[in-house]
Amino acid sequence: MEQHDRAKSINIAIDGPAGAGKSTVARKVARRFGYLYIDTGAMYRAVTLAALRHGIDAGDACRLGKLAAELDIRLEPGDPVQRVYLNGEDVTEAIRSRNVTQSVSAVAAVEAVRLRLVEMQRELAAAKGVVMDGRDIGSHVLPDAELKVFLTASVEERALRRYKEIGEAQGIPLATLEREIAERDRTDEQREISPLVRADDAVLLDSTRLSIDEVVDRIAHFGRTKLGEAK
Ligand code: DC
Repeated sequence: MEQHDRAKSINIAIDGPAGAGKSTVARKVARRFGYLYIDTGAMYRAVTLAALRHGIDAGDACRLGKLAAELDIRLEPGDPVQRVYLNGEDVTEAIRSRNVTQSVSAVAAVEAVRLRLVEMQRELAAAKGVVMDGRDIGSHVLPDAELKVFLTASVEERALRRYKEIGEAQGIPLATLEREIAERDRTDEQREISPLVRADDAVLLDSTRLSIDEVVDRIAHFGRTKLGEAK
């Protein structure tokens, strides 16, 4: 692990579609630099979990906005995954349920929810030394991030990865996962507020034929170059 000195640190934004490997890669990059990893998708998932528990419809923007404003969401570094707390309760596993996964895109399209979470994300990154992954980090949340990466992979490859991760064990057919991923891409790309889009100055990385470590190596290389420029 490299020495973390916030005075000389940079922020790294990693965006891309579902299943491109963002969180695994971002966590490893953060570990290499001794930075804080922030999974913003987990924050949208936490709001979605709370909405489902309160019986709030994903289309009810007004109640969702109020809910997001009241929730206490905390992220804590953990190994192997970052822990997520909702009003003090550890919801790290609960936010990965299929129910949450199927509703989260609609919740993430609500402006009031985004405003609240983006504000929290900017606060977390203010002191630098952060690797943040999401959909709109380079384009909207941290437009001044020193390094921006847009990580992608083909829909087929992303569905296959998801299948190996959960589909096989849960008996979800590959074709179903492929359809769900394509559908989630569409919702994330077509929403009006902060859609999934590659920032002009983001490095494009296609991970379809790369291993996780190859992707991490490339990003770490770009990061070291940017660190050199920032000093
Ligand atoms: O990366 P993920 O699958 O955990 O993200 C969950 C959802 O949240 C996904 O549908 C897109 C949305 N999201 C977003 O709109 N903006 C972000 N910065 C991160 C995630």
